Amino acid sequence: MAKVKVAFFCTNCGAESPKWMGQCTSCKSWNTLVEEKVVQTKNDRITQQPDWRSVGNGAAAAAAGPIGKGPRPVRLDEVTAGEVQRLIAPDRELNRVLGGGIVPGSIVLFGGQPGIGKSTLLLQLALRLGKRVLYVSGEESEEQIKMRADRLGGSMDNCYLLTETNTDKLLKHAANLKPDLVIADSIQTLASPHVESMAGTVSQVRECAAELQRFAKESGIPVFLIGHITKEGSIAGPKLLEHIVDAVLQFEGDRNYTYRILRTLKNRFGSTDELGIYQMETEGLREVSNPSELLLSERDENLSGSAVCATLEGMRPMLIEVQALVSAAVYGTPQRSATGFDLRRLSMLLAVLEKRAGLSLGNQDVFLNIAGGLRVDDPAIDLSIIAALLSSAQDVMVSPDLCFAGEVGLSGEIRAVTRIEQRIQEADRLGFRGIYVSKYNVKGIDPDRYSIRIHTVATVRELYEELFA
Ligand code: TYD
Ligand code: MG
Repeated sequence: MAKVKVAFFCTNCGAESPKWMGQCTSCKSWNTLVEEKVVQTKNDRITQQPDWRSVGNGAAAAAAGPIGKGPRPVRLDEVTAGEVQRLIAPDRELNRVLGGGIVPGSIVLFGGQPGIGKSTLLLQLALRLGKRVLYVSGEESEEQIKMRADRLGGSMDNCYLLTETNTDKLLKHAANLKPDLVIADSIQTLASPHVESMAGTVSQVRECAAELQRFAKESGIPVFLIGHITKEGSIAGPKLLEHIVDAVLQFEGDRNYTYRILRTLKNRFGSTDELGIYQMETEGLREVSNPSELLLSERDENLSGSAVCATLEGMRPMLIEVQALVSAAVYGTPQRSATGFDLRRLSMLLAVLEKRAGLSLGNQDVFLNIAGGLRVDDPAIDLSIIAALLSSAQDVMVSPDLCFAGEVGLSGEIRAVTRIEQRIQEADRLGFRGIYVSKYNVKGIDPDRYSIRIHTVATVRELYEELFA
C-alpha cells in the first residue's frame, strides 16, 4: 500500500521541506512554500535527488559490492557516437534558436505568458513539419485546435491530436503511435497518476517532466513542452524544470505589437545567444528574417527626437529607432519615463548630458521610447539615446541616414562596444550613409570595405558638436 505523506514545496525553486516555513531555506524567497501530498511507493520518487551532503565517508565502503544490471562507467574514447541526425524544422527561426534543428531524444521547454502565441507556434510546426507529430493538449478541445489548424493551414494527415492529461496513458499512446515529435500543451495541465496532487502543483510538474524526459531519452523521440510563465516572469512551477529539460526557450513580446521573439535561456545543444523573430498575423506566425527593415519601416524621417541604433539582439545585428521627447515641464516636478529601456540608465544619461554637454534639463519632461515594443539592454544603444535627446532638446533632426553604436560612460566618454563590425555591416547593408562609433572601437577596421562612412567620437560633447554645431 502506498504511503501518503505531506510535504511542503517551494513554488519558486522546488525545494522540499518537511514543515511549513515563511522563507524557503534554499532560494530564500518568502511565502513560497505550499503543502502537497506525496505518495511514497517502493520505487517511487524517482525525481527526488539524493542529498549528497548526507553521504558520509563510510558510505563508499558500505556501497561496495555487486551492482547488478545497469549502465557501467565507460571510457569516453570508447563511446561511439555517430553524427546526430537533427530533425530540420520548416521554420528557420526555430532551427536557429535550437542550434540547427531538433535533436532526437531531446526535451525542450517553451515558456511564455498566456496569449503570446506558444500554442500557435507549436501547432504550426506540427502542421508544417511533414513528419508524424502527436499534439497533446490539456488546454483546448479537439474542435478548438481544429479551428486553429484550419486557420494556420498545412497538412493535417500527419498530425495527431490527443486531449489527455494522464501521463501514463499519454505515454502509452505515444509509444504506440511512434511519432517523430511529441508536443505537450501544457506541462501545467498534465498529471501523473503516481503523484497524488493536483495538476500544476510543484510535485506534479516535476514528476510529469521527469516522465516525459525518460520517454524522450528512451525512445529517441523529441518532446516539446509548453509551460506558462508566472507574473514574476519565471516559468511556473519549480525552477527544477529548467534542470530536467535540455533547452528552455522563451517566447516573448508585447501583446500590443505583432513582433514575437523566441529567446534561448538554456540550450545543451547550441548557443544561448541566438534568437528568432516572428510576426503574428491572422494566418499564424510569420518568420522575420530581416528585422531591421520591418522595425524601421514606420519611421517618419523628418522629425526631431529620433535616432537609429545599430544594436545586437543575441548574435543578430538589428537597427532600431529610438524616440525621445524633451519638453518644458508644466506640472511641478519634471517627469522621466522610458519604454523599453531602463529608467535608471536614462537618468544617468540625462545627468551626463547636464554635466558634460551643458544641457539644462532640470525643468524638462523627458520621455523615451524604443520603437516596435522592443526592450533593449545592449549598452550600445546609449549613443543613439543621447543623439535622440539632444535632437529633441534642440528641435533639430538627426539626418535619417545616420545611425549610432556606442556606450556612454559617467564622464561623458564614448566607449567601445562588442561586435562593432557586424553592426557596421548591417547598417551598411541597409543603406545608411554614416555610423557614429567610439574612437576606441575602430582598431583593425578597414573603412574602405564599406560604403558607409564611419564617424568616430570620443565624448558626448564631441557628438553634440558634430551633429548640431
Ligand atoms: P496562443 O497560441 O493561443 O497563445 P498561448 O498558447 O501562448 O497562450 O495565441 C493566442 C493569440 O494569438 C490570440 O490572442 C490570437 C493570436 N493569433 C493570431 O493573431 N493569429 C493566428 O493565426 C492565431 C492562431 C492566433
Ligand atoms: Mg496555449
